[in-house]
Amino acid sequence: MNAHPLVEARGLVKIFAARSGWFGSRGPGVRAVDGVDLTVNAGETLGLVGESGSGKSTTGRLLIRLIEPGAGTLRFDGTDLLGLAPGPLRRMRRRFQIVFQDSHGALNPRMRVGTLVAEPLAIHGIGASRADRRERAASLLEEVGLDRGVLDKYPHEFSGGQRQRIGFARAIACEPEFVVADEPVSALDPSIQAQIVNLMADLQERRGLAYLFIAHDLRLVRHVARRVAVMYLGKIVEEAPAGELYARPLHPYTKALLEAAPRRDPQAPPARVLPGEPPSPVKPPSGCRFHPRCPIAEAICSREEPLLLPIGEGRRVACHLAHR
Ligand SMILES: Nc1ncnc2c1ncn2[C@@H]1O[C@H](COP(=O)(O)OP(=O)(O)OP(=O)(O)O)[C@@H](O)[C@H]1O
Ligand code: SF4
Ligand SMILES: [Mg+2]
Repeated sequence: MNAHPLVEARGLVKIFAARSGWFGSRGPGVRAVDGVDLTVNAGETLGLVGESGSGKSTTGRLLIRLIEPGAGTLRFDGTDLLGLAPGPLRRMRRRFQIVFQDSHGALNPRMRVGTLVAEPLAIHGIGASRADRRERAASLLEEVGLDRGVLDKYPHEFSGGQRQRIGFARAIACEPEFVVADEPVSALDPSIQAQIVNLMADLQERRGLAYLFIAHDLRLVRHVARRVAVMYLGKIVEEAPAGELYARPLHPYTKALLEAAPRRDPQAPPARVLPGEPPSPVKPPSGCRFHPRCPIAEAICSREEPLLLPIGEGRRVACHLAHR
């Protein structure tokens, strides 16, 4: 089957205004996403991994235009998403959705589950009546493995895993083609993580969904992502078919991530993968951003920025040494 590019981002940049100095005067800005090219094909899962603060969530939000990029282009199914007027953009929005790590925070605690799942339908004018939307909500809940009897319950009455199921029921309500799953299982017990990952796979198979699956932990996306992109300090440093990335990581940062100890307690902060803190995205290091922490850095690394260049079939890596 030929890959059909669904989401195509080129040169995306997002700089957040950073408060610094006296009286909150404007500093140089946080370079959260600093020139990202990504393609997500229809029906596939692209994993996006990297340490905390590397810009994964910002990238996910940019891809569905929840936030506006400072530069770059963005296409969804061939349409220039950044050039769309408000009306067509609103209609387009039903074709992509987002699920967050913390579905507790994302689900309005005062709304019943039936209303929460029917809400996107109402927003997009889907369904003939409230009763019709309630019926659709019931079958969506069944599709994600919940009983229709839960329609009148409130989010706090559910476990973390069940709330994540509700998040997915809401996300698929308008039959999107693309879902950004921002650390959808990071807050869950390992046993529950597998259930939600399986649910995602089922929904993908049944509905032909494409996912951007964001995770801290490379291991987590191993079995679900066909391709994996690794982010460091606002940039993609390596992208490869999942099997190859795990078997033969080319970027020193990918290697370090793979060597990182798995977290036993999912609530614990992620393991430090390398000595030293990630540098500040306000003033990234010169040359290769990874050079202050790279175990094999050479003189060129602090001078010249490595480009994300193709290397082999479907692979890209941004490291001077990998291209020698
Ligand atoms: N609204 C904002 N205003 C200012 N800075 C922001 C904002 N959102 C994110 N940032 C900064 O941008 C950088 C990237 O953040 P982002 O949330 O995208 O990282 P992440 O990879 O998703 O991290 P995590 O794994 O912790 O979720 C961080 O330095 C963060 O502090
Ligand atoms: S370019 Fe240099 S510093 Fe950057 S990852 Fe490669 S070897 Fe390390
Ligand atoms: Mg995040």
